[in-house]
Amino acid sequence: MGKSQKPGRDNFLLPGQSALLRGLEQQQAFGAALLDHLPVGGVLFLEGELGSGKTSLTQGMARRLGFTGTVSSPTYALMQPYPTPGGQLLHVDAYRVQHPGELYDMGLEDLIEGSRLSVIEWGQALYGDYPQATLLRLEHVPEDEDVRRVTRLR
Ligand SMILES: Nc1ncnc2c1ncn2[C@@H]1O[C@H](COP(=O)(O)OP(=O)(O)OP(=O)(O)O)[C@@H](O)[C@H]1O
Ligand SMILES: [Mg+2]
Repeated sequence: MGKSQKPGRDNFLLPGQSALLRGLEQQQAFGAALLDHLPVGGVLFLEGELGSGKTSLTQGMARRLGFTGTVSSPTYALMQPYPTPGGQLLHVDAYRVQHPGELYDMGLEDLIEGSRLSVIEWGQALYGDYPQATLLRLEHVPEDEDVRRVTRLR
């Protein structure tokens, strides 16, 4: 896939590549397809401003795992484990975390190990601790409010 092309049959991006996603359905479908490329026990970092589609992408992953409940922004619960038929999906919002030690004190490592996948928003302070993790940046596209750009940074 080239830069800024629509995702094709294989929705996975290589580091440095981007895709444009039009509408909530494509955002969720991208998450669902991406899930199949991420290892059990793996970490996915998401960064992107308000409304850039982080939760929507995570919803697509949860659906792919057979979860039928609601996935919301993890703003109030720092760490939200969702039990799904396909295994636990851990959703972490590190936005208000001053130091990664706060998350480790809450048992982050065991939670990650026990999860099918851990999605961590605003996890910059953890990037160095999880060098194998996939990192996506989500952005609005100024010309079109119905589109988001997703770029795999690593
Ligand atoms: N690819 C897309 N194209 C158009 N709209 C989208 C797309 N993805 C998500 N949206 C819409 O954008 C809005 C914000 O999405 P979402 O809640 O997933 O963003 P977020 O990054 O989690 O925001 P926040 O930081 O506030 O939690 C929602 O109304 C959603 O339906
Ligand atoms: Mg959100």
